[in-house]
Amino acid sequence: MSPRKELGIAGALLIAVVASVLFIVVYFTAPDRLYEGLAIAIAAAALSLALAGWAFWILPFEHVVDAIETYPSPPGERAAEQTLAVADLRKIARPRFLVAMLVGALGSFAAALIVPIRSLGPAPDDQLFHTRWRPGKRLVREDGTPVHVDGLNVDSSVAIFPDGAIDDAQSQATLIRLPPDIGGTAAGYVAYSRLCTHAGCPVALYRAAARELLCPCHQSVFDVVNEGAVLSGPADHALPRLPIEVGPDGILRARGDFPEPVGPGFWERG
Ligand code: FES
Repeated sequence: MSPRKELGIAGALLIAVVASVLFIVVYFTAPDRLYEGLAIAIAAAALSLALAGWAFWILPFEHVVDAIETYPSPPGERAAEQTLAVADLRKIARPRFLVAMLVGALGSFAAALIVPIRSLGPAPDDQLFHTRWRPGKRLVREDGTPVHVDGLNVDSSVAIFPDGAIDDAQSQATLIRLPPDIGGTAAGYVAYSRLCTHAGCPVALYRAAARELLCPCHQSVFDVVNEGAVLSGPADHALPRLPIEVGPDGILRARGDFPEPVGPGFWERG
């Protein structure tokens, strides 16, 4: 290959490196996305040109047919073939600087593609599996007022949130006060996740006569006195129950998070 062609490939690789680095610099410093687009486009075009040149000018074009002959070959012939092969290899070996530039261009271009991943925002961590409920968290209404053990009439319900997280939809729950003769409650109270396990609508309707929670979206019905079990409807999983207790000050508190993920997302992933 002529030195001019080698120089052309090297120039294209150099442009790809510079444009990729420019892209990263612009990504972190300039608010205008236009320059990012220009830089990455130039890098991609230069890299494509360099690779095309590499393919046309550096890689051998000859069609090689390996004739099958009777083996073993005579020793002299084998030695001659080996010499030829080594000579061919030397022929296609390229100056190291071109290979180094190719590696540099590919590396910087890959870095330019990876860096914008940070724009996707914070990692979801374990948000799918946990809410903001923690042991000792006070149960508060939508207006932020805590729920006292005497704060609700029997057979009535209220939407509750963890204290300090009334904007957290994942944590919302429905607190219900049941008659004292029903066991398994915290001073008559039970709380269930407000997110329907079918499609995530708020399970907001408490039917006191039947002690059921009804989801208005597709009419799934959940059993309040039986661990939120599904009584009917498209939902196929019980509402997670929030463990609660009455604190020494008479305020209702969580004993911990829901024992399982809330809403439909987790279950739909199969
Ligand atoms: S979202 Fe509740 S039944 Fe469909």
